[in-house]
Amino acid sequence: MPRADIRKATLQDAANIFELVNSLSGDGTLLRRQYAEICENVRDFHVALSEGGIFLGCGALHLYGPHLAEIRSIVVTPEAKGQGAGGGLLKALHAEADLHGVLTTCLFTRIPDFFFHYGYRTTMDRTALPDKIYKDCQKCPRLHACDEVAMIRGPVPRVAVLGPQKIRQPELVPLQIAFTGTDH
Ligand SMILES: CC(C)(COP(=O)(O)OP(=O)(O)OC[C@H]1O[C@@H](n2cnc3c(N)ncnc32)[C@H](O)[C@@H]1OP(=O)(O)O)[C@@H](O)C(=O)NCCC(=O)NCCS
Repeated sequence: MPRADIRKATLQDAANIFELVNSLSGDGTLLRRQYAEICENVRDFHVALSEGGIFLGCGALHLYGPHLAEIRSIVVTPEAKGQGAGGGLLKALHAEADLHGVLTTCLFTRIPDFFFHYGYRTTMDRTALPDKIYKDCQKCPRLHACDEVAMIRGPVPRVAVLGPQKIRQPELVPLQIAFTGTDH
């Protein structure tokens, strides 16, 4: 089985990431990403490369806070499917989440079976992820016709950092940050 090398993305990978992610955005498999947005957030990405250095795929970890991170834009080229690159990318993103001490990772997907392999479970109540809903879903044209499954790995978050101040679920409280440094 061909081996995929996984490494952090650099700006030089942004064009490949842009083309691959948006090649699957037309049918809603992946969220469309602007080139500028990919450049700005390129440090969220890992890429998979063949031994010869050919771009095979990418995946991103978006940090909401210590309570939650999201797996985004995970995809491999059609030629690279089934060779371990997707799984390798996901493991690298989990390792990065661990490095940051993130408690829970989440994602929305149409292929839950792939993510079951890696310890995810479905959550029927997507309002359990208010940060994700506030970041993406509220402006998504598929808001009321979403065919994706919400999945999490880790405990259901009990805090949220995005969204209106008054969240209707009493068990969710906005994260309180105490600033200890002095102003300059
Ligand atoms: C999902 C995707 C990234 C998987 O990448 P991949 O490189 O083909 O996956 P791997 O070869 O690393 O497979 C890892 C394991 O997952 C399994 N798997 C792969 N794709 C799967 C799928 N669609 N459904 C269920 N299991 C799947 C493999 O059989 C393998 O299992 P094994 O370890 O028991 O052999 C790839 O199919 C893809 O790019 N899909 C289109 C984009 C997409 O849907 N992304 C997810 C958006 S949330």
